[in-house]
Amino acid sequence: MVRVAVLLSGGGSNLVAFLEGCANGTIPAEVVAVGADNEASGLEHARRRGIPTFVEQFDRGEDRDAWGARLADAVGAVQPDLVILSGFMRVLPPVFVHRFAPMLLNTHPAYLPEFPGAHAVRDAIDAGVTETGASVIVVDDGVDTGPILAQRRVPVLEGDTEGTLHDRIKVVERELLADVVRDIANRESAIEEN
Ligand code: GRF
Repeated sequence: MVRVAVLLSGGGSNLVAFLEGCANGTIPAEVVAVGADNEASGLEHARRRGIPTFVEQFDRGEDRDAWGARLADAVGAVQPDLVILSGFMRVLPPVFVHRFAPMLLNTHPAYLPEFPGAHAVRDAIDAGVTETGASVIVVDDGVDTGPILAQRRVPVLEGDTEGTLHDRIKVVERELLADVVRDIANRESAIEEN
C-alpha cells in the first residue's frame, strides 16, 4: 500500500476520483494527508473522510524557501511514500522538490511539453489545435519540465469551451494517475519480496 500525500489549491475533483479508487481497491494506495496553499474547497473532501489536512499559506512578501521548507515539514510529518500535486497551482521551490523527488508527481492537463504552465487548457483552445492531452510527470525545478511518466492525447471538439475540454482531460488525468500509482505499488512490492 503506497502512502500518498496530496497537495491541491482548488476544488479537488481529481482527489475525489483518487480517493474513490483507493476505497474500491482499484488503486493500491492510502491518502494519509491532504495539504493546500490556501483554504481550498478541495480540503473538504478529505475532512469529510477523516483524512488529516493542513494549510501552508504563502504570505505576500514571504521568502519562497521559508514557505517551501514549512510545506515540506508538514508533508514529511506524515511520512508519505509518494507526494501528488493534484491541481496545486504554486511553483514549489527546490528545497521542497529535492526533499521528495522523484516520488513527487504532478498531473497536467496537456500533452507535455506542449502547453506547460497554469493555463494549459485555455492555451490549447487559443492555439486552435485539434488535439491536446494529459500528462503525469515527476516534478523537477522547472515548470512542468520533469520526466514524463504517462500521457495520452485528448481531442479538442467543435464548440469546446475551456470548461468542457478540461472536464474531458481530467477524466484522462485520473486514469493516467491511477496507472502510474499502480506501477509504483507493483515496483514497491517487487522490491519488498526480494
Ligand atoms: C487538473 O486539471 C490539474 O491537472 C490542474 O488543475 C486541475 C485540478 O482540478 N493543474 P481539480 O481541482 O482536481 O478539479
